[in-house]
Amino acid sequence: MARQQRLICASRDLVDGGDGTRFEMNDQQGRAPAFVIRHDGEVYAYLNRCGHVSVEMDWQPGRFRDMSGLYLICAVHGALYDPATGHCICGPCNGKGLTPLEVVEHDGEVFLMEG
Ligand code: FES
Repeated sequence: MARQQRLICASRDLVDGGDGTRFEMNDQQGRAPAFVIRHDGEVYAYLNRCGHVSVEMDWQPGRFRDMSGLYLICAVHGALYDPATGHCICGPCNGKGLTPLEVVEHDGEVFLMEG
């Protein structure tokens, strides 16, 4: 089956170092929460599931950054993740990173690659 692009948001919605945009996708377990952010000019998307406990991480909808703005943080127990890789930096994620999703950006819009 050919892969498809699903529109997530406009490029202008993702401010570098700012909030993320939440969306949902289908995975093996059904509907799954996810988010996309911009970091150092690039867009990155992950399932919105902490590596510690499988819960959503944002402390308010779309707020995934720690106080420094350098990392993604889980609001539940404070695990920190690298925005560009999803790798666990420190905290109770214990080396378990976020699940990356493939996104592409063109023509002023951001798309999730599906299929
Ligand atoms: S659930 Fe995210 S750090 Fe514990």
